[in-house]
Amino acid sequence: MENMRSRPITSDAPFSLARSLDGSNDFTRETALSVGQANTDSAIIHGENLAVLDSLGDAIKGRVKCVYIDPPYNNAEVYRHYDDRLGRRVWLDRMTHRMRALRETLSSDGSLWVSIDDSELHNLRQIGDDVFQPENFIATVVWNHRKTRENRRPFSTNHEYILCFAKNAEAFKRSRNLLAATPEILSRYKNPDKDPRGAWQSITANVQDGHATKSQFYTLVSPSGRRHEPPKGRCWVYSQAKMESEIRAGRVYFGRDGNAVPRLKKYLSEAKIGIAPSTLWMADEVGTTDSAKKHLLSVLTKEDVFDTPKPEELIQRILHVASNPGDLILDAYLGSGTTASVAMKMGRNFLGIEQGPHIATHCVKRLRAVHDGEGGGISPLVGWEGGSGCAFYSHRSKLTRV
Ligand SMILES: C[S@@+](CC[C@H](N)C(=O)[O-])C[C@H]1O[C@@H](n2cnc3c(N)ncnc32)[C@H](O)[C@@H]1O
Repeated sequence: MENMRSRPITSDAPFSLARSLDGSNDFTRETALSVGQANTDSAIIHGENLAVLDSLGDAIKGRVKCVYIDPPYNNAEVYRHYDDRLGRRVWLDRMTHRMRALRETLSSDGSLWVSIDDSELHNLRQIGDDVFQPENFIATVVWNHRKTRENRRPFSTNHEYILCFAKNAEAFKRSRNLLAATPEILSRYKNPDKDPRGAWQSITANVQDGHATKSQFYTLVSPSGRRHEPPKGRCWVYSQAKMESEIRAGRVYFGRDGNAVPRLKKYLSEAKIGIAPSTLWMADEVGTTDSAKKHLLSVLTKEDVFDTPKPEELIQRILHVASNPGDLILDAYLGSGTTASVAMKMGRNFLGIEQGPHIATHCVKRLRAVHDGEGGGISPLVGWEGGSGCAFYSHRSKLTRV
């Protein structure tokens, strides 16, 4: 068990991240390291994440719409900027405490997304189920993180995972955003009869009769006089009265000659057009570790480059599904600052926590470039032209003075 020594901030005033941090003795604002308009409600904090969350205490509880974390995977590697050799027991203990603390920060419809690979996927799922309860597990996303083949191993590992848990699965389901409909889906909507309501596609007018009421069994008479019975084991989707009013309104289609089996018209303007995110995220859609490194190289120097950055497109998809402009995003393992950069470009507020000194070297440099209108990553996708900013704070837990 880790010992949490910090004194939590408590406040009854309306939430302001900057005010909470400025009002605490545990945090020091480092003006020289702030980015752009540092009074925006976004901040990056140099410190150990559990100690930082403990100091923030009630001030951050229930405020965060989306937590994304990319913790060390415990894969026995040593990277340029951090060590990934904790050993299983220590790693499990650390992740359990952090997942618990991070859950507390979530709003009632908020969600936590966590990157991981095969080494600890099963254990992380168990921790997530314990902390969030199994009914609030949302999905295991498989991310195709590399396109090249690794021939020296028995299998070439070409994917990682992202686990998603919600504070409350029902609330998350109601508030999460759909992905944009593909051109293929949009092309199904046409307007062959020049309907003034615009493009439509036809969908079935009958349903399985398992939960039907008596009013859904009748002979449907088309305007041409042709009589239609529902197919065996099925009934009409509407009662007779409702179906007749839909026919009068021109919302039922009987084929080009008016004699075909009736179908309903589903209008593009009324359709909740968008697709539920699938659990398979391909490299061509959301980038790879290599594409993320190449992007970083265009912002930082070769010496600065980070070993394990995530591509901006991957984080964009998460933030798109799980949040809206103005929401607060939290990344407690900020690394090279990908989540903060993407949040900035997508108009979200953010809190980033990182214990390594690269928060001052990499993240600040990167976020200043973003503020100045950096054009890589998701910039062309969101029309990013620069602006925004964040304040920089040191927490008293920080390991290295910056
Ligand atoms: C895999 S990297 C994150 C990479 C990031 N997603 C990106 O795109 O650049 C993990 C980061 O977490 C940091 N870290 C590890 N343990 C931490 C802790 N307890 N508190 C704060 N930062 C921590 C490491 O220093 C490292 O920079």
